[in-house]
Amino acid sequence: MTEQRVVAGGAQTTDAPIEPGLRPRNFDHYVGQQRIVDNLRIAITAASRRGEPLDHVLFHGPPGLGKTTLAFIIAAETGVSVKVTAGPSIARAGDLAAMLTNLEPNDLLFVDEFHRLPRIVEEVLYPVMEDRALDIVIGKGPGAHSVRLNLPPFTLIGATTRYALLSAPLRDRFGASYRLDFYQTEEIATILHRSSEVLEIKATEEGIHELAKRSRGTPRVANRLLRRVRDYAQVKADGLISEEVALEALERIGVDELGLDEVDHKVLTSLTDTFEGRPVGLETLASSISEEPDTVMDVYEPYLLQLGFLERTPRGRRATRRAFGHLGLPYPDGSDGTSDPDASQVKLL
Ligand SMILES: Nc1ncnc2c1ncn2[C@@H]1O[C@H](COP(=O)(O)OP(=O)(O)OP(=O)(O)O)[C@@H](O)[C@H]1O
Ligand SMILES: [Mg+2]
Repeated sequence: MTEQRVVAGGAQTTDAPIEPGLRPRNFDHYVGQQRIVDNLRIAITAASRRGEPLDHVLFHGPPGLGKTTLAFIIAAETGVSVKVTAGPSIARAGDLAAMLTNLEPNDLLFVDEFHRLPRIVEEVLYPVMEDRALDIVIGKGPGAHSVRLNLPPFTLIGATTRYALLSAPLRDRFGASYRLDFYQTEEIATILHRSSEVLEIKATEEGIHELAKRSRGTPRVANRLLRRVRDYAQVKADGLISEEVALEALERIGVDELGLDEVDHKVLTSLTDTFEGRPVGLETLASSISEEPDTVMDVYEPYLLQLGFLERTPRGRRATRRAFGHLGLPYPDGSDGTSDPDASQVKLL
């Protein structure tokens, strides 16, 4: 179900053919994340002046915000080639060794889903990242010994949606790590303008704005909504995405004015109705909507937290006053175990 949600940040099969064409190729076309871009530009210039590869970099943050895009931009801006792999593809130390011994000097190794690297590989990575040295164990049993292989200078770029799952020693081995944030509506609108040019989609300023508002601050979602709304515009309105067409199409697709869909509403109403605003454990919340706890944490929670609709308390997740407001429900008195200050004020009066 998660895979099919039009507002899910994770990549879906229908995104694959279109994403490469929409992906910005240099920093000038990369919208937003200004602090990260500024820091990277400085780091790239400094490294090139020293004649060294860039320090290892880690990008983390919710899906669809531009981590992979940044890795490819770094490669393009530094004029090096990039080899791509992902945590689950490196099952054994030997897989990593094969990959590393194939690197050319200054190459960039992009490891997606970095949190899914097996422990055994992680340990081999420590000296690799620190000293650019690969320790290979030869033989088995008492005769086993380790040989150190020096690697060419290279840059490792890691990307993860689950920073918390990375061990401290692994995190420490990155020269820099950057957390990508959700984008502002205006930034998403800028991205949508560029995408509609690339895809030759006609849209008015107001139409773009409606799409931008409902894209959950996520470029991948914005580009997906653009394509879905284009279909509707082509069938119903001569292909032009006006404000009216955008509103009709989004209503039909089932995305509300904040970019929330049916599943988000299910999470929220579970917190407001079933649990009546009381804190609830992740497992309980997940099972109440028949989902995996990981999915709730990775997919649903980040944007609800960002909107201030959900908060994490020591006793679990709970819906906030703002969430009750959005659903048009009265905020229950004492839902967090204490009396709500505003509500008691009302009672005193
Ligand atoms: N800053 C940006 N400016 C313009 N377009 C962007 C930007 N960031 C991302 N995009 C668009 O969003 C799409 C998704 O970005 P990307 O694949 O880099 O996300 P990601 O963070 O790697 O996601 P995941 O965690 O799922 O791997 C890209 O194809 C690109 O078109
Ligand atoms: Mg990615």
